[in-house]
Amino acid sequence: MMGEPGHRDLAAAPEGAPVDRLIHVADLHFWRVTLNPFRLLNKRLLGNLNVCLRRRHQFAMNVSHAHARSVAAEGVGTVLLTGDFTSTALEEEFAMADEFMRHLHALGLRTIVLPGNHDVYTFESVRARRFERRFGRYLPAEGYPSMLELEGGTPLLLVPTVCPNLFSSRGRIHDREIERVRELLPRNGGPIIVAGHYPVLTRTPGYTLTKQRNLRNAEALREALGDIGRPTLYVAGHVHRFSYVRDEQYPHLHHLTTGAFFHRNTRENIKGEFASIAVHRDRFQVFRHVLRKDWERILAEA
Ligand SMILES: [Fe+2]
Ligand SMILES: [Fe+2]
Repeated sequence: MMGEPGHRDLAAAPEGAPVDRLIHVADLHFWRVTLNPFRLLNKRLLGNLNVCLRRRHQFAMNVSHAHARSVAAEGVGTVLLTGDFTSTALEEEFAMADEFMRHLHALGLRTIVLPGNHDVYTFESVRARRFERRFGRYLPAEGYPSMLELEGGTPLLLVPTVCPNLFSSRGRIHDREIERVRELLPRNGGPIIVAGHYPVLTRTPGYTLTKQRNLRNAEALREALGDIGRPTLYVAGHVHRFSYVRDEQYPHLHHLTTGAFFHRNTRENIKGEFASIAVHRDRFQVFRHVLRKDWERILAEA
């Protein structure tokens, strides 16, 4: 649930201690956790479809609840979720995602939410306003862009980047939305976090976005972020890969993408992933959290 912005004096933070901390969770993609429904479209399986779906649901919930408890154990009160809660924006997927959100709140966590392209996957789901109906209570009342504040006073700007597509997985941010982003961004002061579903960089050592999956108008958004004369962290999901880099053109700007929360990467023996951000007076520290045998916390270097 959106909380009230705090107004704690930044100067009150003890030397060396973070002013704010934030968890980033990306790309839950309910149903991908276990069985792919397209594989269930097999006549032999149809009779068992209900059982499979029920089992799938339970399995997803077991994993998601355990992961959520690990997030809560970090002792950070706020979780930023940058979308792709579902896979095809179906009611059943939203129901699972909603159950997950309720669990986060039951653990005492404040959530900040953006939609992903999979949450507005079809024009039909957008017309039915399925995301807004299921997730309305988690979203900023004014829509996006939306300026929030973390408890210690760090500004957090949410930007709109998603739209339905017939075939591609491209994102979009309009010029007028970028103008609004420019208006909302305070030009001077301490660190600021900006979040969207799509990364603005097409390529980093951690990922490459093809033209079918990138953000239209990304360079204009990057320029708007780069023009701010303060340390800025742009946080995104979508690529399902961890990446933390300093922008080559704008030294104040860093870019973070976090791997998918439930993703099972057998090559690296990873069963889950999230990130945490410590905001200091003049810089950020980013940690990658991965579940191998246990959760590991790794300081990322940009
Ligand atoms: Fe995704
Ligand atoms: Fe996505």
